[in-house]
Amino acid sequence: MSSENWWRSAVIYQVYIRSFRDGDGDGPCCGDGLGDIAGLRSRLDHIASLGVDALWINPWYPSPMADAGYDVIDYRDVEPRFGTLSQAEELVAEAHERNLRVLLDIVPNHTSDQHPWFVEALAAGPGSPARERYIFRPGRGDGPPNDWVSNFGGPAWTQAPDGEWFLHLFAPEQPDVNWEHPEVRADFADTLRFWFDRGVDGFRIDVAHSLIKEPGLPDVGDLVYPREYVEQDGELVLPPWRPHPHWDRDEVHEVYREWRAIADSYSPPRVFVAEAWVDEPERLTHYLRPDELHTAFNFNYLVAPWTGPGLRKAIDETLAEHVKVGAPPTWVLSNHDVTRHLSRYARAEQIPGRHRLQDLLDMPYDLAVGTRRSRAALLLTLGLPGGAYVYQGEELGLPEVEDLPTDVLQDPTWERSGHTERGRDGCRVPIPWSGAAPPYGFTTAAETWLPQPNDWAALTVEAESGDPSSMLELYRHALHLRRATKELGDGPLRWRADAGEDVLAFDRGEGFACVVNMGSAPVALPAGATVLLASDALTDDGALPGDTSVWLKP
Ligand code: GLC
Repeated sequence: MSSENWWRSAVIYQVYIRSFRDGDGDGPCCGDGLGDIAGLRSRLDHIASLGVDALWINPWYPSPMADAGYDVIDYRDVEPRFGTLSQAEELVAEAHERNLRVLLDIVPNHTSDQHPWFVEALAAGPGSPARERYIFRPGRGDGPPNDWVSNFGGPAWTQAPDGEWFLHLFAPEQPDVNWEHPEVRADFADTLRFWFDRGVDGFRIDVAHSLIKEPGLPDVGDLVYPREYVEQDGELVLPPWRPHPHWDRDEVHEVYREWRAIADSYSPPRVFVAEAWVDEPERLTHYLRPDELHTAFNFNYLVAPWTGPGLRKAIDETLAEHVKVGAPPTWVLSNHDVTRHLSRYARAEQIPGRHRLQDLLDMPYDLAVGTRRSRAALLLTLGLPGGAYVYQGEELGLPEVEDLPTDVLQDPTWERSGHTERGRDGCRVPIPWSGAAPPYGFTTAAETWLPQPNDWAALTVEAESGDPSSMLELYRHALHLRRATKELGDGPLRWRADAGEDVLAFDRGEGFACVVNMGSAPVALPAGATVLLASDALTDDGALPGDTSVWLKP
């Protein structure tokens, strides 16, 4: 594979910078237990030694942090609590020295309410040109202009002191910008160039499917999005897709054609990955047509239950649609917005679509089962065609922290839902590096921005390094083996027939096969095959136990 096409097979490590490592915990500026660029630089070798190809760093721009950095004041600078622009440039160079590419996170749907454009718009008043960069409207009667709801709960509209309302699909501190405005388009293009000029290899695009709104802003009515599973003939199915007034509008593709041309004007070309929660695989791959984005997160795989039929369906639909546009699929199990997969797979009952902690809290779980399934899921994920994502901490086998005290919760969801939804903080807890007690080497400050559990001593990088039974050593082993195996990454997949409902078995080329047993009874492995790597021990007579995967040389 040419180095220009690195992204077709890449494993990308997600750095949630606030929780990766605090490098200046006792520094003059920020003794705050918040991760930063210095901390990331100090542990780049951890990422490189895993055997991944790139990192994606969540937003590090100046921000009041109403939504953990997804409320941006200046897209072309760095938040002082995270470091400086020159530190950012040094980080990119140091990553490149280790053969790690760097993707940043661009947030085009909304700015911070403290962005100079929005400050100007509020001051300028109704009818002013400054308001046209956002979506201001008069209300309907005494209420908001329409029935749209914020992703974090409550109405998607907030009233300015002069009576006009502005749209925010997320928090009120995140007003949506108007993508029909040429200045908005030009400014985001400048931001792309700004970072590309500094050697950044690409961008993850935040809520890539929300930029364009239907003219007239009609009510959403009873349209549920993303769609929810309904029972039909004893099976859970999604209702038919219908167009939505603000998600996944066809006109958004024009924006990405422009962005692709910018990325292609660089040498080597820069790349994009779309965060688009589009549950219809065909709608997702529209973003991946040859003149649009390179890849998109595959959330259908993420939300699939740990069952043979559930995962098989997600994989088959993904492959069938991606092949039509010639784009490589990606496989993702966790990120900073969903319950960590170890804790999802730990649930006794596996229900499609359940990724919010709120929907899992009252279901019994067993973390040992979740750990075993996560190990098996890793070999499946890395064995599938295309690229994959690793969310920091999953390589340590971190569970979701489900019992954070409510007074430390910071996700806007908690307040916006009237304290009924805990939100996403449980997957964002700072990761443990060393030592036997919090802060586990994360910071030299007295406290971390979210508290860490007291029982993570066995889950630190230090404790797991060199322990052949640890999650960390499984990740290292699997990632290095994947890199050395020419059949893995981009390319075709061939299912093996008659593997059984709870078993996924497939070949990649002639020299590699993967078998995953999601049932409870052991299954025999194909005769004559050599085991390259197993997620857990085989039975005494060489069969594959339940919740175990194996990589084979047939
Ligand atoms: C994306 C981000 C999420 C953020 C939201 C609003 O979904 O991943 O963390 O809250 O966009 O920017």
